[in-house]
Amino acid sequence: MQNSYKRVDAHLSSLGYCTRSEAKKFLSKNLVCINGVRVFDVKEKAYHSDIIVDGERLDDERLVILMNKPSGLICSHDDAGVLIYSLLPQRWQRRNPKISSIGRLDADTTGAILLTDDGELNHKFTSPKSDVVKVYEATLAESLRGDEAEIFASGALMLRGEKKPLLPAKMEIIEPTLARLEICEGRYHQVKRMFGAVGNRVVALHRVRFGEYSVDGLEPSEYKIINLS
Ligand code: URA
Repeated sequence: MQNSYKRVDAHLSSLGYCTRSEAKKFLSKNLVCINGVRVFDVKEKAYHSDIIVDGERLDDERLVILMNKPSGLICSHDDAGVLIYSLLPQRWQRRNPKISSIGRLDADTTGAILLTDDGELNHKFTSPKSDVVKVYEATLAESLRGDEAEIFASGALMLRGEKKPLLPAKMEIIEPTLARLEICEGRYHQVKRMFGAVGNRVVALHRVRFGEYSVDGLEPSEYKIINLS
């Protein structure tokens, strides 16, 4: 658990309570206490854990969030459209560093996505060395042929434009046009391209689980804080 020691205005601005220039006003309007003593001086230094704002502890210094992404929202801060971050509380949206998704889901993909403001953690999960398992349910335009599981498990499937074959993946037929697919890579549009490579087309894609984090119990657009030790 992080517990940094810095100026109170730095704590408040990095956690999105106010900007650095608004901090003086924030301290006059809100009851901000360090170890039980009200503070008015923005330069006062304190540990994160010793600061109370209007009777509440400060938000955690590192946030990790599991969201059940709804269809139509966008993960990339750089793309146009409604972003998944707009579902979060305003204060979290003002945090610096920004909250970003760990990897991406396409706008029309739903389901499990982790969000964090911890760059190192984000890198750990998205680096090519990461072998986190992602489980998808893909609804398909055509009935499955029956040979897809073997092709995906072979470790020999080459996607167009790629230099290396895909790592073996596990596929299960749930219904003639519904498959459950487990992959441990995160290549661009990977699931859609895999089914494209076997002559099919994904018409709806839902990520059931990212690593150990499943969206069971979370309605679309709902999210919860994950406590990583
Ligand atoms: N694979 C895809 O094709 N799209 C996603 O959003 C995720 C995995």
